[in-house]
Amino acid sequence: MVDAFDTKDPWANEPVIRQLWWSERKQWCAHLLRLSPEDRRHRFAGEVTDAFIRSYCEAADPFVVIVFGAFVDGELRAVGEFALLERACPRRCRAELAFSVEAGWQGQGLGTALFRSLVMHARNRSVAHIYLVTEPDNSRMHRIASKFGMTTSPSDEDPTRRVELHGPSYCTVIGEMMTEGVALLRHAPELPQLPKETAGDA
Ligand SMILES: CC(C)(COP(=O)(O)OP(=O)(O)OC[C@H]1O[C@@H](n2cnc3c(N)ncnc32)[C@H](O)[C@@H]1OP(=O)(O)O)[C@@H](O)C(=O)NCCC(=O)NCCS
Repeated sequence: MVDAFDTKDPWANEPVIRQLWWSERKQWCAHLLRLSPEDRRHRFAGEVTDAFIRSYCEAADPFVVIVFGAFVDGELRAVGEFALLERACPRRCRAELAFSVEAGWQGQGLGTALFRSLVMHARNRSVAHIYLVTEPDNSRMHRIASKFGMTTSPSDEDPTRRVELHGPSYCTVIGEMMTEGVALLRHAPELPQLPKETAGDA
């Protein structure tokens, strides 16, 4: 029998996709460290060590790099990164995107869903162009990029794909508020602990 007052999460089996808080940076790093050597090569356009990944996450500037995550059963399994390349007005901001999905969770739509979230994020910040750098053999990423209208430059040597974005609309603004709000209700990060005030602090 259907219980009309059943308040269980109606999306319980769906992944939670939301912006990561900076206090969750360790989970982002742990996710990147779990990528297979092949996936690391695709993600970073070359072979990278664990130490490289740790310092990459450590050095990221929270005002420049925004990370969206896909949580499956509470675990971070996929990530979409948005890096602001330049902030210039009006409508000349550019951003680079990058994606990573752990091996057991690829081919289930997470990369596409993260791409959609990053496009909405970019449009709402008036980013005019987004870029993606991919290896020539990365057919899966190319497939996703083409779904969002990304194209390569006429030069065959250039591994960059790009697309021009529309600015914000009521739908993108409300869409972001709603999806982020619901995602936070479903999977809230732990509140960051502020350092305790030491005796003598004003
Ligand atoms: C590339 C990557 C992010 C894609 O994420 P994903 O969750 O596996 O992708 P999705 O399931 O959302 O979509 C994959 C699409 O590629 C298609 N696809 C799968 N295998 C393919 C192949 N061998 N050739 C072409 N298309 C393929 C799928 O059919 C799907 O398209 P559809 O939605 O039209 O059916 C993920 O595989 C990954 O992390 N790879 C390693 C790191 C990487 O390459 N990062 C990108 C560099 S920035």
